[in-house]
Amino acid sequence: MAAKITKLKVNFKTLEEFKKFKEYGIQELSMLEDLEANIIEDESDSPFYGIYFGDKLVARMSLYQVDAKFDRYFYPSQNYLELWKLEVLPDYQGKGYGKALVEFAKGFGLPIKTNPRVKSNEFWGKMGFTSVDYDVERDRGENPLVWYPEGVGAQKY
Ligand code: COA
Repeated sequence: MAAKITKLKVNFKTLEEFKKFKEYGIQELSMLEDLEANIIEDESDSPFYGIYFGDKLVARMSLYQVDAKFDRYFYPSQNYLELWKLEVLPDYQGKGYGKALVEFAKGFGLPIKTNPRVKSNEFWGKMGFTSVDYDVERDRGENPLVWYPEGVGAQKY
């Protein structure tokens, strides 16, 4: 059965589940603080999508749309999706959940940019992502990979 992708709401249960993921950091902590301080409403939309196994969150990714005017990766400049924090919990890896999340992101029909974690390049290659090998001005230490929907593809040079 195909994995079901769920848009994650900001609530205490989800934020508790986020602690099981390695890439837990400032973003999650500030969501928790904002929720506790009632700065963000309980059950409001988060930028995360996830997959549940029973009632346990086993995979997640964050996805947000970047406006064309801030684009440094595509030519001509366009709106694209920044995909990050893709992670599948160890016991659930290799079952197609990572792929299902990436396919879901592709379904929006926009180019996608991600910064892969070390040693995950083979996975991203299989997903059709390629590296940005032209000389763009970019953040230090960044090694972006991109994916283009059909009909998009000219790179800046
Ligand atoms: N190395 C090589 N190939 C990999 C891979 C890896 N680490 N992880 C997945 N693949 C391949 C699978 O074999 C599969 O290939 P197929 O379509 O030909 O069968 C394809 O990528 C999709 O795999 P999937 O089952 O969807 O992967 P996943 O659910 O485990 O998600 C990650 C992939 C990398 C997101 C997930 O394993 C993860 O979060 N890992 C955390 C740690 C990490 O980044 N590890 C990298 C390796 S150390």
